Amino acid sequence: MGQIRSSYLGICMRTNVAIIGGGPSGLLLSQLLHKSGIDSVVLERKTRDYVLGRIRAGVLEQGLVSLLEEAGCADRLHAEGFLHDGTLISYGDTSFRLDFAENTGTSVVVYGQTELTRDLYDAREKADGKILYNVEDVAIHDLENDAPCVSFVHDGVQGKLDCDFIAGCDGFHGVSRKTMPESVRKEYEKVYPFGWLGILSETPPVNDELIYATSDRGFALCSMRNETLSRYYIQCEMSDDPGNWSDEAFWDELKRRIPETFAEQLVTGPSIEKSIAPLRSFVTEPMRWGRLFLCGDAAHIVPPTGAKGLNTAASDVHYLYRGLTEYYATGSEKGIDDYSEKALSRVWKAERFSWWFSSLMHRFPDQSEFDHKMQIAELEFLNSNRAAQKSMAENYVGLPY
Ligand code: PHB
Repeated sequence: MGQIRSSYLGICMRTNVAIIGGGPSGLLLSQLLHKSGIDSVVLERKTRDYVLGRIRAGVLEQGLVSLLEEAGCADRLHAEGFLHDGTLISYGDTSFRLDFAENTGTSVVVYGQTELTRDLYDAREKADGKILYNVEDVAIHDLENDAPCVSFVHDGVQGKLDCDFIAGCDGFHGVSRKTMPESVRKEYEKVYPFGWLGILSETPPVNDELIYATSDRGFALCSMRNETLSRYYIQCEMSDDPGNWSDEAFWDELKRRIPETFAEQLVTGPSIEKSIAPLRSFVTEPMRWGRLFLCGDAAHIVPPTGAKGLNTAASDVHYLYRGLTEYYATGSEKGIDDYSEKALSRVWKAERFSWWFSSLMHRFPDQSEFDHKMQIAELEFLNSNRAAQKSMAENYVGLPY
């Protein structure tokens, strides 16, 4: 555990790895490092309940499941998660099943990010891991020498955390990326001209696998958390407001966008959450500067189509964790020196898949009739071509680390 001492400054701590951000990637990194005997301290801007209140996708690739096993945090996931061997893709009146198992020999696990985060918190607490919540005014210092540190305010008290390395797991709006000088980073971005209106409802899922649907009215997704909790989305205008949508209006619109047989079977009920998410593709390069390493949303964002956000954060954690364990075990800096290049190589492939799947399944406001014909032709090709299905399935279940 990080050593804490009082001084005139307030809190003074020392650890191996300072982790900024207590979301799933920061917690997973912290827990994996702990298993390898490497000390870390997690600084989180919000409360634990706030972090657990964030609703995110719930589809886990095998690579993430393996990391959770390695971290000793996969028992509940194995007991309560659902293995999915395929997904349904529908366009207009046509639908086909993309078989993950047949095309790749593997499957994905449906298990909510909220539950996964809870498991990670429990593991960190059990191991007496140091997590500070409600941390404000975080600033990163001295990245270009061997003794970086993080300053912050906690409960009104000034704090300083000395460390060997800093992992920036603090999301798109966090301080970590912004600490890298503009002269060394390059950002790539695409903002999509629509959003996703999502609801959570205590109703049984309409199908035992996810349904990705496109229609003349736009995209829809039928997803789930478990047998009694469903998650549904419809493409909406970016300027829309969840308050404009009664539950009834949402269900009616969803039914218009999914295959008729499912629309007839859909069990509707009151929503327990309703929100709009923007769609964005974003990557910053490099993902390392001096002793600072960016992980997950701090470095890249994908549109949610295909559920690659958390899974891509997990591959970053994998590369960073391997690099850091190699450093502490042998003194070699090879793994940490390769981090940015290796992580980015996989990130860009996940970006490509999420962009491709989003472009295929949504109606774009400025799209021509030709553009629409291209989407349909691509869907028909996918429907009928084994090689195309294999390629899509490989990307969906997750490319190797
Ligand atoms: C979700 O369940 O929230 C979800 C599932 C699959 C996606 C996106 C979101 O592609």
